[in-house]
Amino acid sequence: MTKEMLENISLPRHIGIIMDGNGRWAKQRGLPRSEGHKAGAKTFRAICDYGAELGIECLTFYAFSTENWKRPADEVAAIMNLFRDYLTEAEEREEENAVKGMRIRYIGDRTALPADIVDMIDKLEENSADKKTITINLAVNYGGRDEILHAVRAVAQKVQAGELKAQDITLNDIDGNLYTAGLPDPDLIIRPSGEYRLSNFLIWQAAYSELWFSDILWPDFTADDLDKAIIDYGKRNRRFGGV
Ligand code: IPE
Ligand code: IPE
Ligand code: MG
Repeated sequence: MTKEMLENISLPRHIGIIMDGNGRWAKQRGLPRSEGHKAGAKTFRAICDYGAELGIECLTFYAFSTENWKRPADEVAAIMNLFRDYLTEAEEREEENAVKGMRIRYIGDRTALPADIVDMIDKLEENSADKKTITINLAVNYGGRDEILHAVRAVAQKVQAGELKAQDITLNDIDGNLYTAGLPDPDLIIRPSGEYRLSNFLIWQAAYSELWFSDILWPDFTADDLDKAIIDYGKRNRRFGGV
């Protein structure tokens, strides 16, 4: 996007991206699915950098859902290894990311992840916690229903402890206990790969998100596609139930 275009557009503060279509991309090329995930991880890095360049405040990438454990063990292992690679690289590039003001966060249920990955996430989150230019959320073992359940349990515990009355529970109590607490709701959610669903992604937060779909498979997604999504977003009339 040119500087001029950027000046004339209202940028979404938070963009959620469902990185779908890796398997089909690999299949089209007669490659194993893991090659599709590898190519998808490359696209993730590029879009991450481009989002930061555009000045987007927050990007959430859906990489692995709570339902994706159903896949063959070797595919799951390949995805976890790519996540490992990314975390290792992010650790190595800490200074570079710090200069960009990149805060990296994890969203999802980390208790089911391998211990070494959890350690790397903890370190990365801690070391980048004070960065303010862009927040990158990595959704791995993330499910919107699981997230809501987790929040409801936290609120129920407060009620059980006598700190809160059931009739006093507010939307803020739920919102404040989501993995995304403190972040703006996604203004725009992008799903490539020709599927028209959220697949359990940010289902609470997406109440008023603008949705953008495309047939492009995630490994083929480029900066130009992100531009297109943002330009389309700029033409939407968001009413939030008003007139
Ligand atoms: C997205 O690509 C990555 C994950 C869900 C982990 P897919 O692996 O779902 O790719 P398709 O949908 O089979 O093409
Ligand atoms: C959604 O893709 C999850 C991620 C991209 C991480 P899926 O491929 O799992 O979604 P469905 O099964 O087609 O709905
Ligand atoms: Mg898929």
